[in-house]
This record gives sequence, C-alpha cells and structure tokens, in this order.
Amino acid sequence: MGSSSERWGSRVGLVLAMAGNAVGLGNFLRFPAQAVANGGGAFIIPYLVSFLVMGIPLLWIEWGLGRYGGQHGHHSTPGMLDVVGRSRFWKYVGTFGIFTNLTVIAYYTYIESWTLGYVWHTIAGTFQNASSTEISHYFDQYLGIRNGGVVNVSRQALFFFVVTLGLNLWILSRGLMRGVEIASKIGMPILLGFSVFLAFRILTINEGELGAVNDAIAGLNFLWEPQFDSLTNPKVWMAAAGQVFFTLSVGMGSIQCYASYLREKEDIALSASSAGWMNEFIEVILGGSIIVPVAVAYLGLDWVIANVGFEMGFRTMPTLFQHWGPWFAAAGGIAWFGLLFFAGITSSLAMGQPVVAFLQDEFSLSRERSTLVLGIAVALLAAPCILFYELGAFDEFDFWGGTFSLVLFALLESIAFMWVFGRGRAWEEITRGAEIRIPRIFSFIATYITPLFLIVIFLGALVKPIGSEWTSAFESLFAGDGWPLSHDSVLGRLMNVGLVDASAGSSASREILVRSGTRLLLTLTFAAIAGAIFVAWRNRRKEKSA
Ligand code: PHE
Repeated sequence: MGSSSERWGSRVGLVLAMAGNAVGLGNFLRFPAQAVANGGGAFIIPYLVSFLVMGIPLLWIEWGLGRYGGQHGHHSTPGMLDVVGRSRFWKYVGTFGIFTNLTVIAYYTYIESWTLGYVWHTIAGTFQNASSTEISHYFDQYLGIRNGGVVNVSRQALFFFVVTLGLNLWILSRGLMRGVEIASKIGMPILLGFSVFLAFRILTINEGELGAVNDAIAGLNFLWEPQFDSLTNPKVWMAAAGQVFFTLSVGMGSIQCYASYLREKEDIALSASSAGWMNEFIEVILGGSIIVPVAVAYLGLDWVIANVGFEMGFRTMPTLFQHWGPWFAAAGGIAWFGLLFFAGITSSLAMGQPVVAFLQDEFSLSRERSTLVLGIAVALLAAPCILFYELGAFDEFDFWGGTFSLVLFALLESIAFMWVFGRGRAWEEITRGAEIRIPRIFSFIATYITPLFLIVIFLGALVKPIGSEWTSAFESLFAGDGWPLSHDSVLGRLMNVGLVDASAGSSASREILVRSGTRLLLTLTFAAIAGAIFVAWRNRRKEKSA
C-alpha cells in the first residue's frame, strides 16, 4: 500500500508534529554553542535576518511543494520534484531529500540515545557526589573514547542506541496518526514544561547563592546585547544561516514529507508560520536561557567562551546541577536530558518518515517493511559514526549530510518550485486555503532574494578561508600569496587541508583514511539512492506500458 491515503488527524496534531520536527537538539545544544562562538549579541541580528529572508520563505516553499506532491501521490522529494520539474533530471535532485535524512538520522539518533542514557544515570544517581572531573570523564567512558583511536564502544552506549532506534522504528511503523502525531502530542508539552522549569530555575540564580560566581542573567546579557559591527562579518552570517537551516529542518525533505499529508485546500500560510515561530521561541527564548546562563553563573563567561560546544550539555550540565542539592539536582538532570530526548525523538521521526514514505510510494513496500529497511540502513550508517567518532567520521557525516547538502538542495528546490514550476503557480499553491494573508513581497523574496542568499552562502562555504578571515584572505590573494583555504571549507575538506601536512604522522594519516573512507561511503549511499530512484521509475514505466 502506498502512503497516499494517510492524513494528519487534526490541526493541533499537524502543528505540533511540525514544531516537533523543527524543535530538536539544535535548539538546546547547537544554537547556544553557535551564538557564543560567534560573539553572543553579534550573532542574533544576522540570525534573525536569515530567518526572515531565508527561513520563512523556504518553509512556505517546502510546505507548498510538499502538499502539491502529496496530491500526486508522492511523499518524498524525488517524486515531488518529478511532478513540478517535468524533466527526467529533477527526480534525481530529489535524491538529496532521502540522502540527508538518512545520513543525519544516523548520527542524530546516536546523540539522542546519549540523552536517554543520561536520564537513566541521573535517576540511578551516578552523578551524585561525583566531582566535576569525574562527571566529564564519565562522558568519555560512556562513549568508550580512547586516546586518539577507534572508539571502544561501551555496552551501555550500544544498548541505549538500540533502544532509541527501536523506539523510533516502532513509532514510525504505527503510521502517521497513531505514531508520529501521538508522539508529538506527548513529547512537545513535556519538553516545554521541562524547559520552562529549567529556564526559570536558572535565571533566578544570583551571585553568591548556591555556589554561583555570577548572576545567571549575565549569560543572557552576553547573548542579547546587540553588536552591530558584526553585520559586516561573513563568518557570523554563514554560521547564522547554517543554524537557521538546521533548526528549521529546511533543505532536508522532511518538512515537505510532513506537508504532503495535508489536504488540498488546507491552510499552509498560518500553520507553517506558527510552527516556524514556535521553533524560534523555543530556540532563542528557552534554548538561550538554559545552558549558557547556568554555565556563566557557575563557571564564568570566559570559561564558557573557551569551552563552548555541544558536548558541554553532557560533560558540564550534570556537574552544575550538583549545586542544587540532591533532589533538585536529580530534577534538573531529568528535566534537561528528558527535554533533549523528547526534542530529539520528535526530530528523528521526522527524518525517518520521508525514507519510509519513499519506500512505500515508489516501491509499494508495506509500512512495516519500509520501517525495517530504514532500520537496517540507519544501523549500517551509524556504525562508522559510533566507531570512528574521534577520528572524524561523525564530523564528515554532519558536514556533508547535515550542512552542505541542505544549502545545495534548498537552492535547487527553490529554483524548481519558484522558477521551473513558476512563480504564479507556486504562489497559488502556497496561498490556497490560507488563513492569513502573506504579504506579496514574500513572493518576490522567495523568487529572487532567497536563491541569491543561498548562492552566496554556497560559494562562501566552497572557498571559506582559514578562520573565516575574509578580509585578510583577499589581501593575501591580491598580494600574490594565494588563498588561505580553510580545512573546514568544501574544497579544503576534499583536499584534506591541514591533515596532509600535519607533522603528527600516523594519527593524521589514520584520520585521513577515516575521513576519505567516510566520504566514499557517503558518495556510495548517494549513488545507491539515485539508483533506487532509477529502478522505481523504470518499473513504473514498465507497469504503465504493460
Ligand atoms: N531541526 C532539528 C533540530 O533543531 C533537526 C532536524 C533536521 C530535524 C532535519 C528534522 C530534519 O535539531
């Protein structure tokens, strides 16, 4: 059976599922880290501008494309682009919408499983009376990290991963209404409750109270004091745009999939904006009020700036809660890891659904079988992320699957929808049944500004200079000293910049091996999906002519 007969059960269910899709680990771990790494108040303005000129228009494009595809029996991007693009080539662009979900879900469910493990350890009292060094060290133990080598996976990390993946698959196998929708209705309120509790507890911490060295509010001030000179810094712009992508789940094929279960005349304009703004509220208001303020309160701003990163959520947070006395520490830990878990699972379900829908629609597999295939694929792809976590496999997955592809795909799909399908028809799709009037200017923005913005980001990522110092990079170029390509640019990665001439010898060459191998695996995955699309369409043609 195809998935074309499935629909959302209710408007509330739809908006909560879409918000659950967007609200994820990105809101609570990635956003604070990005904001701090890019100068706090310097980050916010480019972030909000990117949200308005790129995020919101892309949401509408993806909802419109998705609902249109759904009307034609397609719930994943290959089929959707096939019906709007009307040339054989476009369905292969849709490969991205399967590829990104598959690669991101692989490492995302792994992190999600840590949160489950940490909920368990909070309840079991593992962190009680432990020193901060012990707690941080515990993280390495949990993952089985060893100095500079292959991870020696701990049994419990594996156990919690299998449980998390199994839970995801079980929910997906129950179908949209009985699975994803129920999970969102349960998960979102709990997540909100936990995060409001934590934000409130944390923001009321005063200097000198419970061992705090600062008012927690000092952390908020750092995040929110606008610094206008940052507006001319391309590094901050790229980071801000990247965060908007990740947090809204755009450029993935995931929003399109959820939107494809809408009815033809159901509102898009209001639902998409509600889900988008809800995500922003949870990100900047709640996400901004937890990890940074509490760390600033206990460890100081300088420490936070020097140590920011998503591992802080696991290495540092349980330590800080210890200041609250045993009961409150446990409540804090359960709220923190619990909210991460619910944020994570409502997002990983959103990455799984497009893959399941692809197999259902294009290969006529049953939902259960499709889920099984997804499970096998995720387990295979997660293995290198888990085993070679330290050696860069995880990082390569995140870069190619979770960053690079999103920008490229968003660019291509916006061209397909606004230009190939046509601006007039696209606007008609976006506004049919609309319960709010979208200002006409957004049609202009979606057609011209958004793609232009994406092209600039794409080119920037291609040749990003060392330290994102664009001005000095151009000076160096004009002085004839060449372009200082960053190891973190697209070209730099492909050329193993920084690794090749590392004097470190064997550990550098091991890392090159792992990173190149991972890229090969990713390329093969992409090719396999494109091959599957080829086979599906060939079979369909045969069926038609038979
Ligand atoms: N938006 C999610 C987050 O903030 C991640 C995500 C990306 C979810 C793509 C679904 C699809 O963590």
